Order: sequence, then structure tokens, then C-alpha cells
Amino acid sequence: MNKSTPGFADVLIGLQYGDEGKAKVIDLIADNYDIIARFNGGANAGHTIETDAGRVALHQVPSGIFYKDKLLYIGSGCVVDLCKMVKEIRGVNDLGISLKDRLFVSDQASIVQPHHILVDIHTGGTIGTTKNGIGPAYADKALRMDDDRLLNIKIGDLLDDPNLFDSVRKNLETAIKRYGEKNYNVEQALTDMHDALESLTPYIQRDTLFLQKQVEQGKTVLFEGAQSSMLDVTRGLVPFVTSSNTVASAAFVGGDIPVKFHRKTIGVAKAIMSRVGNGPFTSELGGDASEQYCMESDIHNKDYEHTTFNTDTLLQSDKPLDVGIALRMLGNEYGTVTKRPRRIGTLDLVQLAFVAKLNGIDEIFLNKCDLLVDFAKTKAATIPLVTGYTLDGKSIDYIPGSNAAYRRVVPVTHQVAAFSEDLRIIKQKKDLPKALLALLKKIENQTGTALLGIGTGAKRDEYVLFTE
Ligand code: IMO
Ligand code: MG
Repeated sequence: MNKSTPGFADVLIGLQYGDEGKAKVIDLIADNYDIIARFNGGANAGHTIETDAGRVALHQVPSGIFYKDKLLYIGSGCVVDLCKMVKEIRGVNDLGISLKDRLFVSDQASIVQPHHILVDIHTGGTIGTTKNGIGPAYADKALRMDDDRLLNIKIGDLLDDPNLFDSVRKNLETAIKRYGEKNYNVEQALTDMHDALESLTPYIQRDTLFLQKQVEQGKTVLFEGAQSSMLDVTRGLVPFVTSSNTVASAAFVGGDIPVKFHRKTIGVAKAIMSRVGNGPFTSELGGDASEQYCMESDIHNKDYEHTTFNTDTLLQSDKPLDVGIALRMLGNEYGTVTKRPRRIGTLDLVQLAFVAKLNGIDEIFLNKCDLLVDFAKTKAATIPLVTGYTLDGKSIDYIPGSNAAYRRVVPVTHQVAAFSEDLRIIKQKKDLPKALLALLKKIENQTGTALLGIGTGAKRDEYVLFTE
């Protein structure tokens, strides 16, 4: 028998509240792997890559599309919206990139059905979900059936038994009735889903051991986490989480290979934090006022902010809420999926250290360091960092397990020196501003984790790697 040396799998996850720039790091390191694989979530992820040809936003297809020799895999732990997936594949094709014989979707992944989106629209408001039907799809996955209606419909099941479209229809009609939805075109929804399944069939992988066999034959995998550790349905703070497991170990459940192939875990964070949707955010600039302001996303959108405010004036304000608005505008922190204004906060090192520990992170990549220059234009002209937490008068080094307790945490903020150099042109660690190097050292010390590199701008080639 011809035995080859097995490959391995590295896991990359977000360490904060999503949108840490995971796709940029994947794009940067993808060449070191044979396969890029997703293990959780669905179209709620919005992974943007800046290219010379423009911006590409991926939602379900793994990043790494630009490396034409890499395979892309969507694991059984994901929830797949067939119609959106077809559109996304077309979008990638429009860039001149073919996914034929490159993209493999597990036939055990569950389908996001039309009723899931309807239910999410009606129930996800308080959490501030992305309305992609993610929560209802994972809920139905756990629930399995409602009387004679199959709730969890997997891609392979639907391929093998088209009669299951009857369940899709019944599920939709039940939701329409429940929410008194008028003018919903059920036939159109079913036809669209039917057509999408047909278009996707060539990408569906029927061998449930496909990825494992690849690794056993020596192929290497980079798992691309969607959302972030803080949004994990089990370890995050319910209900302000997504509905899948986002922690690193989940890659070996939803990613379809045994844990023995794990090599290392990379975490991605950003230098100025953001959160989209509701829930506690200890280092938020402007605190509750910012959360409230961002909740009114219909009014306080990108256009409104850019026509109303001047960032230089806001940065000089005494109000943290104003500084937060300026940082959002300068960092273009608006949702890729929902276009909502993202809430902005300073880097929280207690949280970062906790999440690094929880996930056993080996290396951290810190994105968006270029935006730290904006702090040089504030009145204090320093960079604030959260370095300690106090809960009910006691110092703690962990994130409490309940929302109420996390809301009571009082952050200890530490000011460090700012810098104004343009980082985008810097390519080597030794050329970085001294103040930034001191800040990065502080991050390594408090998290006990080495930095793999930093992001120095939005473009693909704007980064500095620390390993060279
Ligand atoms: P990427 O992969 C940021 C947030 C939503 C909401 C909560 C639940 O781009 O980092 P859901 O639609 O998942 O039921 O919403 O989770 N959320 C994200 N926030 N980035 C994401 O993905 C997110 N995916 C979900 O805003 O608060
Ligand atoms: Mg995103």
C-alpha cells in the first residue's frame, strides 16, 4: 500500500466581534495550504478582500479564491443558502475565476430554507442579526422535525429525495401564516431554490470523508472561521451571539476532519475594535449612547455620517461618542452584509487575552494598525487601551458568563503614546514607529501570545509579517 505522510489543519478564527479582517489574513497566508475550508456559519459572514480590480465580498465561499490551485471546501457545520451561493459563484466567475472542480460543498451541510429568513426577519431584531436566517436554520437543525414536517433539510437529503420540497413548502407556509405575511410568492421561492440546487449540484461532495481523505493523502488545510469567538453560541453571551460554534475547536466538528490533524491556531484581531448588532461591549467609545446611536442604523448610516460630520472636528471632541463616530468614518466601519454602522471601541486587552487563552491561540495577527494614527489627532493625543476589568469592586481576568455581569464590568483604561507615521508604506517590522512597537510588545505581554504580523492598510499588500 502506498502510504503518504498525512497533512495537517491550521485554524484561523476571529478574536473579537467579527469583521476583524480574517479574509485579508487568509488571502495573505493561503499560499501555504492546499485547501481553505469553512466549518461554521453561512451568508452572515462578510469577508471583503481589496484587489486592484476592486472589492470582493465573499459570504459563503471560502477566501483564497485568488489562488487558482487551491481547493475550497464548505463543511457540514455550515448552513447554506442555495440561491445566495449561486449568486456568489457567479460573482466570482465575473472576476474571471472559475470554481469548477475547486469548490466542494459537503452534502451534509444544512440548507437555509426560505422560512428561516422570514423567521429571522421577524425575530432577530433585538439581537440585531444579519437576517440571513442563520439562527432559525441552526434551531431547526437541532429540532429536526415538527410532527411530519422535516425541519432540518440537508443538501444531500434534498438531492436524493425531491419530495422534501414539500417540507420546504410546508415550513414556509407555516411561517407565512404565523407572521401574517402578505404577498409572499411561495412558488417563486420554491422555483428559485429548485433552480439553485440544480446549478449547485456539480459542487456538492457526496463522499462524506472527502476532506479527511485529502488530509490523509498529505494535503494541508486552513480552516477559515466565520464570525468570532466572542459570538460563539456556547461560550459567548446569549442572546447576543450568532447561532453556531465559532471557537477554534469547532473546526473539527463542522469541518469534517478529526482533531488529530490540528497543528496550530491563528487568531485575528483589530487594533480598533468594532461590534455590529447589540450586546455588551466594554471598551465601546461612548458606551450605551453609542450602542443606542448605532441601533438607529436607518438614520445613522454611512451617507448620513459622511455628509454631517467632519472627522477632524469630532476627533478633537471631549465626548468619546464623537471620537467613535470619527473612527468609524475613517475606518469605514459599516457592515458588509447589512451596511449598519459598527459600534467602535478601543482595543480591549483583557478580552483579547481571555479569548486567546480560551481558544489556545498560537499567533495573533493584528489588523488595521494604520488607523491608530487617528488617535494622534485627538485632544489627549494618546492611544487608550483597556488593560484591566473590575467587577463589583474586584479585579477579574476573565469575561463573565452572563450578560448582566459583563455589563457591570468597569474597564481600567491605560493611555499609551500615539504615532502619526503612515504605516501603509512600511514593509518591515524594524521600520515601524517606536510607539507602535511598544504597543505591540504590550499586547504580546498581556496576551502571552506572539504576533504573526499586522495589517497596515486596506489593500492586499498592506501588511507587515513578523516571522521573516
Ligand atoms: P464575519 O464572518 C460581525 C453578528 C450580528 C448579530 C449576531 C447574530 O464577517 O466576521 P446572525 O445573523 O449571525 O444570527 O447575527 O452576530 N454577526 C456578525 N458580526 N461579523 C460577522 O461575520 C457576523 N456574523 C454575525 O451582527 O449581532
Ligand atoms: Mg464581516
